[in-house]
Formats: sequence, structure tokens, C-alpha cells
Amino acid sequence: MRKIVIAGNWKMFKTRSESEDFLRGFLPHLEETPSEREVVLCPPFTDLSVMSKYLHGSLIQLGAQNVHWEENGAYTGEIAAPMLTEIGVRYVIVGHSERRQYFGETDATVNLRLKAAQKHGLIPILCVGETKQQRDAGETEKLITTQLEKDLVDIDQNNLVIAYEPIWAIGTGDTCESKEANRVIGLIRSQLTNPNVSIQYGGSVKPNNIDEIMAQPEIDGALVGGASLEADSFARIVNYQ
Ligand code: G3P
Repeated sequence: MRKIVIAGNWKMFKTRSESEDFLRGFLPHLEETPSEREVVLCPPFTDLSVMSKYLHGSLIQLGAQNVHWEENGAYTGEIAAPMLTEIGVRYVIVGHSERRQYFGETDATVNLRLKAAQKHGLIPILCVGETKQQRDAGETEKLITTQLEKDLVDIDQNNLVIAYEPIWAIGTGDTCESKEANRVIGLIRSQLTNPNVSIQYGGSVKPNNIDEIMAQPEIDGALVGGASLEADSFARIVNYQ
């Protein structure tokens, strides 16, 4: 059975007090959320500790936005998996296109981060997706196939979520047509050895398009950026029809 996973990626937004305000507004909405849906919040590192206390005993899982591959060491500015698990973090986003684009993340480092996450019991959310240029050049399939081949070397597919995030749809309001997202996600699934991996769509997911996205048979959830920052809007998304 594939699990539905709806995750909010807050990126570099929200101070600690803003994250507490969010939870006060958001948690009451979860009474309407079917219990089989996994709801994950991925705030900045500085919010994780306080959110972990608030969320203890709730249905929400905490996720981080990155993890280093070593357990400790002289890696200024990085965070290791045991630092995350000790405060109750369960998921971690790996290979987001913003990390690949602005911070030199490569398929090789993505693979190392995935391995470290799994070794410590974190569930990685691996992001893959093409640029507008690659799509226009008809290279979407090739790019995604290459990313999966390189990123998933020696990765346990029983403990993994994948997010298809076409880069041209991120933060643009230009959502990928739900049928096209479904097609690409089907292609991703066809390249996995485990057909039960949950595969999310990400890229301008909003309250007004979530129902259509989630009606697609291959799509098992969403990775939501901007629309996860506001309690009412993220609540509408997790409570999709
Ligand atoms: O990881 C989520 C993401 O990149 C999509 O962002 O703002 O288009 O929902 P957004």
C-alpha cells in the first residue's frame, strides 16, 4: 500500500515564534484530516526543537530540509543526522533543486545524504525534476532517469519518498498539468524496484489545485512550498477532497 504524504517545505521562512503562531492556527484543522494521511512540516533548523515539543503526540511528523553525510566533524554550517533524530525529526528533504542550483549539490552528494539519512532511521524525501530548458528540449525523461540512476545507488527503497518537482513550476504559479505530473510520476515509478514508494508532486501546489492533483492515480502526495506557510491554506491542502 502506498502512503499519502503531504509535506510543507518552509524553506528559509519563519522564525521560532512565527512557527509557534503557525501551529496554533494549524493544529485544530487536523481534527478533520483522515488518519491515514501523513502530514509533515519541514521548517528551518532553528524551529525544529520548539516544534518538536509542540507536536509531541500529534499526528504531524517533523522533517528537516537537509542533512550532512557524516555523523559529526569539521563541517561548518552543516547538520548531522543524529542531531535531527535526537529531537524527534522523522523526515529529511534531500536534493531539492534549490540546493542543487545554489549550493553545489550534486547527484553524488545527494546519494551520500540519502544513505546517511537512512542509516540513522530518517525517511528521505528525494527531489528530482527538470528545468524549463530541459523540458522544452524534450529532455525531461532522460534527466529524471539519470537523476534516479545516480541518486539511488545502494538506497533502500522501502524507506524512501520521492518528490517530482519540475523546476519551472516551483514558486511560479505555473503548476504542471496534473495529467502530465501523473505521467512523469508513472515514469519515475517504472524505474523503481519497489512499486510502493510514495511519490509526491511539488510545484505551485495550492488550495485550488490540490483536489485535482490528488485525484491522479500515480500521485501519492504533495511537497508544498509557499502555500504551506499559512495555516488555513496548508490545512485546506492536507484536508483535500
Ligand atoms: O519543495 C517545495 C517546492 O519547491 C515547491 O514550492 O512554492 O512552488 O509550492 P512552491
